[in-house]
Amino acid sequence: MKVLNYGSLNVDYVYTVDHIIVGGETEHSSKLEVFSGGKGLNQSIALAKAGVPVYHAGIVGIDGDILLEACEDAGVNKKYIRRLPVKGGHTMIQVDKNAQNCIILYGGTNQMQTKEFVDEVLADFGEGDYLILQNEINMLDYIIDKAYEKKMKIILNPSPFDEKLDNCDLGKIYLFLLNEIEGEQITGYKDKDQILNAMADKFPNARFVLTLGSDGAFYYDGKVKIFQDIFKVKAVDTTAAGDTFTGYFIAAMIEGRSVSDALRMAAKASSIAVSRPGATPSIPTVDEVKKSLIDHR
Ligand code: RIB
Repeated sequence: MKVLNYGSLNVDYVYTVDHIIVGGETEHSSKLEVFSGGKGLNQSIALAKAGVPVYHAGIVGIDGDILLEACEDAGVNKKYIRRLPVKGGHTMIQVDKNAQNCIILYGGTNQMQTKEFVDEVLADFGEGDYLILQNEINMLDYIIDKAYEKKMKIILNPSPFDEKLDNCDLGKIYLFLLNEIEGEQITGYKDKDQILNAMADKFPNARFVLTLGSDGAFYYDGKVKIFQDIFKVKAVDTTAAGDTFTGYFIAAMIEGRSVSDALRMAAKASSIAVSRPGATPSIPTVDEVKKSLIDHR
């Protein structure tokens, strides 16, 4: 069984600000830091740091050295990462004094996937292999259809949610990991139980992890519902906290751990990521997560 994450890689430009600016306002930032990030890459790095071998597929641009180095440092397999001679995916992120962020995303090379490249990547994967996807690349509908034909188990983090997802056959998804905003965008409900029930009605072959920020997370498979509270920490930067949760949950599930264990590992890993700046650099190793869980007892 192999694990493929086909997703975005972004250079994150992170500006520390007093407050997140509103329309018409100009504000000085006190610091600029440049981190490797992107929902796809963050999740691959979380999987690798959790101890699960993962192939990342995607496209970087001329500014992609920092992203390739992040893969090397964390042990993410780069065999399916290509490079194009144009500007790559990047973000402008404001982080305020309360650790809240807001993100402007420029797709760049993340939006340049082709059918040929997708076919080339998926040719090496088959029945029972896992495919992890988010919504920061183009061709998602095609990737889902092809992977499903090959009987891969498709895991989707429908983030950021937009109309492109309407073109995807979400009935082919094995596991959804989503937050309450995405849950509302898909089902029209705000309440967590209504979201989970509506998701289970709409996608009866799937299971779901719904994250609720400081209110914890729920797993639901249409029958069993399991809750995991957060581990409270002083937040420094919430960027990649959700991706860390996603990567660690998937890693634990692939390793055959119980859902409760997987949720606990994911919540702990994500709490550590929140207490550190940046996207991929904030993601803890599995040893850090295990030690912190022992200390927490
Ligand atoms: O989920 C966090 C990520 O979203 C950041 O690293 C940024 O690149 C955006 O894609």
